[in-house]
Amino acid sequence: MNELMTSSKINITPTENSKIHEIDFDNLVFGKKFSDHMFVMEYENGSWGEPQIRPYGPIEINPALNTLHYGQAIFEGMKAFYVDENTINIYRPKAHFERLNYSARRIGIPETDYDTFITALEELMRLDHQFVPKKDQTSLYVRPFIFASDDLLAAKSSSKFSYYIITSPVGAYYEEGFNPVSLTTTKEYVRAVVGGTGDVKTAGNYAASFLPAKKAKEAGFTQVLWLDAKEHKFIEEVGTMNIHFLINDTLITPKLMGSILGGITRRSVTTLAEEWGYKVEERRITIDELFEASANGSLKEVFGSGTAAVISPVGLIHHEGETINIGTGKIGEFAEKLYDEITGIQYGKIEDRHGWIHSVKV
Ligand code: COI
Repeated sequence: MNELMTSSKINITPTENSKIHEIDFDNLVFGKKFSDHMFVMEYENGSWGEPQIRPYGPIEINPALNTLHYGQAIFEGMKAFYVDENTINIYRPKAHFERLNYSARRIGIPETDYDTFITALEELMRLDHQFVPKKDQTSLYVRPFIFASDDLLAAKSSSKFSYYIITSPVGAYYEEGFNPVSLTTTKEYVRAVVGGTGDVKTAGNYAASFLPAKKAKEAGFTQVLWLDAKEHKFIEEVGTMNIHFLINDTLITPKLMGSILGGITRRSVTTLAEEWGYKVEERRITIDELFEASANGSLKEVFGSGTAAVISPVGLIHHEGETINIGTGKIGEFAEKLYDEITGIQYGKIEDRHGWIHSVKV
């Protein structure tokens, strides 16, 4: 294989068989197809080794791999956007990097450094820029992840870890696309407790949510709206996104108290709403308050935010046999304004006043 050393000190082995022809850019399914290259770095004997970029492909693992049994694994979800044929915009890489290290600390995984992270992203964008889709509502999804790589069945922290970054051209996350999704609470399950791992991006949080999500889907809803684990009345998040409520002119976003993931898009939403002069409250909100706001007409909009979901309108919420309908079956005005602003910044069409964009020349 053709191997070269770049100035950034990442050892790069370019692919000899590009898979670009396998991508159907008109029908992108979320996270099914991958770009030609991936970043890899291994941790062993107390330090991270040499960073490498090599062709995307299967990896060999031992059946005793710690992660397969105990799930000592974390990840990030971020996006890069086509601006023009020479420019790709990566959205808020520093914030994602900081959250990756936050997750690492909680799950007992060694932290990584920003220089390697951003250099790896830049190199991946340069190598795989043709995989960044150009159409409206599409992007290159970037998935950094770190997992325990000791082959050992003892239930203890691994001493070896593997750090990868893979990328995937994507369209909308939900089947509904831009149409409102429907949510249901559940009495049967909880997502996270304070002191647990709800505020970090770790594999187990998602594994535990799949059965409740399946049941919600079978009952006709898109996703579960999680309530707090202790009193079962405060709204937390959706698992695949954070949640926001516009009640009159106040944007209410469930407060981060340890069991909710601190979304990067969630942060963009509250920042923009404040700048636009809305009253922004990060506080606890009960499901009863939400239903009351719906009954008295003050509930104007409900929407989710997340990297994959971007801004996703919610049209219906079901809770213990009762249902509220929100809006008119289309995205609300406020959510649409947020969507336009955030994606405008991401695609380089609106000035980046906040330093959220890291542009890469390709
Ligand atoms: C993201 O929004 O990027 C996530 O990681 C959520 C995941 C359910 C796709």
